[in-house]
Amino acid sequence: MSGHLKTLTRYLIETRQAHGAHSTGDLNGLLNAVTTAMKIIANQVNKGALVGALGNQSDDAINVQGEVQKKLDVMSNDAIISETEWVGHLAGMASEEMEDIMPIPSKYKRGKYLLVFDPLDGSSNIDVNLTVGSIFSVLRAPEHKGAVTVDDFLQPGTQQVCAGFALYGPSTMLVLTTGHGVDGFTLDRDIGAFMLTHPQMRIPEDTKEFAINASNSRFWEPPVSRYVEECLQGKTGPRGKDFNMRWIASMVAEAFRILTRGGVFMYPTDNKDPSKPGRLRLMYEANPIAFIIEQAGGAATTGRQRIMDVKPESLHQRIPLILGSKHEVDRIERYHREHEQGLDREFSSPLFNVRSLFSGQ
Ligand code: AHG
Ligand code: MN
Ligand code: MN
Repeated sequence: MSGHLKTLTRYLIETRQAHGAHSTGDLNGLLNAVTTAMKIIANQVNKGALVGALGNQSDDAINVQGEVQKKLDVMSNDAIISETEWVGHLAGMASEEMEDIMPIPSKYKRGKYLLVFDPLDGSSNIDVNLTVGSIFSVLRAPEHKGAVTVDDFLQPGTQQVCAGFALYGPSTMLVLTTGHGVDGFTLDRDIGAFMLTHPQMRIPEDTKEFAINASNSRFWEPPVSRYVEECLQGKTGPRGKDFNMRWIASMVAEAFRILTRGGVFMYPTDNKDPSKPGRLRLMYEANPIAFIIEQAGGAATTGRQRIMDVKPESLHQRIPLILGSKHEVDRIERYHREHEQGLDREFSSPLFNVRSLFSGQ
């Protein structure tokens, strides 16, 4: 029974009353539509093979990223569009699954926001029944009356009005920030409402857990190799404690774990494919998750720059992403600085004794 818990609807109205005395309620209207789409997607993910939702869209369906589209990638994209385009709060949308931006059709009222989303994150996990999710970011649309352009979307993450993600796991969850901390909700399927179950989530500043796809290790830059190697050395290395490792291959699930018990997630730049400066996309993966992680007391960086300060150059731009517990992310940034200054040369030397140089840091 979740009768004692606050519904998302009540939470949104109370939050608006507390923080947006002059606000119109448009953002709440938009969030209501986005979260309805998430319930539709959750239902399809949950029913899986029963409703023919698994598998690839077709033998040759490739998205703009050059990745094979799953049926649920397409269905989730369609659900978000059809639930939000008509509500009158958007001027345009952009999605991982659409090459170009989508201005709101002229038959609908134009609104003051832009919606950017990854309709299904971690879609390689669909067919193996592991957690996937949807990520979204809300930006302000320009005041001008003309059709929105790609340039209107290319705002740094610091400009986000709101960011959130849904998690389709053992429970369906929603994590949300409007810049006043991070709140988590669990879907009560019996009444069809998200309930506030995880108010004001905070990420512990220290951690003993990291997540990285180690199959890329030969392509990493030295600061990342150094960090991971020191974690692996555990109690006998410079960190003086044993670390645990996780890799789910759904960033949403990794982000939720970090919000719950701390940790670090890394998809750093590497030299595997020089045309790709990272795996994840800035606008609809890195920025919204970075906003949430920062609002929960964590940090998110490329290794060299705060993610939310990056000025986007293109809609589907990829970016190196390192996020999680504040002290660990600070340490990894320091390793990047030390590498650039040539101060980590000892790290690659066979004579290097890390403990004597970096003890206690
Ligand atoms: P998407 O399914 O939207 O393309 O994103 C998947 C992303 C991210 O969620 C995950 O962390 C990463 O790709 C997994 O990458 P690997 O396949 O290299 O492990
Ligand atoms: Mn994704
Ligand atoms: Mn996706």
